[in-house]
Amino acid sequence: MNKIILTLAAVMTMSFAACAQNNKREKNMQTEKKPLVVYFSATGTTARAARMIADVTGGTLCEIVPQQTYTSDDLDWNDKQSRSSVEMNNPDARPAVKDTKIDFAAYDVIFIGYPIWWNQAPRIINTFIESHDLKGKTLVPFATSGGSGINNSAEELKKTYPDLEWQKGKLLNGVSYDDIRSWVSDLVKNCDKTKISK
Ligand SMILES: Cc1cc2nc3c(=O)[nH]c(=O)nc-3n(C[C@H](O)[C@H](O)[C@H](O)COP(=O)(O)O)c2cc1C
Repeated sequence: MNKIILTLAAVMTMSFAACAQNNKREKNMQTEKKPLVVYFSATGTTARAARMIADVTGGTLCEIVPQQTYTSDDLDWNDKQSRSSVEMNNPDARPAVKDTKIDFAAYDVIFIGYPIWWNQAPRIINTFIESHDLKGKTLVPFATSGGSGINNSAEELKKTYPDLEWQKGKLLNGVSYDDIRSWVSDLVKNCDKTKISK
């Protein structure tokens, strides 16, 4: 069983590298590339989904850590003055993040995960995106929520950063490893269709 998982992870890794391929790069370099799985998680749910993606793809995990941790008061959506409410009411809010020490240049495919806040990605995701050169990379949004879908937040990200290459996002509430494997395998196929065949 472990062998199958490892093989699948290797195949997916190679396919993702191919998906984001840059003709200038050496073929053998591409096949060694793994995705980066970046996520923000205030209460641990999105972190769990991120770990599953990293397990399945063999990717590198990278947590977006706020410089100031969100307390439960900060996360109180019933309080219009709570930190999360104030941030989400201000499209220009960019909460500071701790340095990740990740070499982003080493990755072509980046999964970006977040909890849905007010039907959007938390503003700290904007901070992350604007702090790195993500041009030319394949970005795959994923999220967890209390029930809302991911479409609004993913569309919002696409609209805000139209120069970046976004893949369709996926809501990962209560998913199993099989769900993740099947999603990742579909992604690889779509990448092949839209990019490799060109
Ligand atoms: C400030 C705030 C706003 C939220 N807004 C929504 C929302 O609009 N729709 C929804 O389904 N869930 C919403 N939620 C619930 C979270 O998306 C959900 O609990 C998520 O899985 C938490 O992920 P985390 O544990 O990684 O932080 C909100 C939670 C918080 C704290």
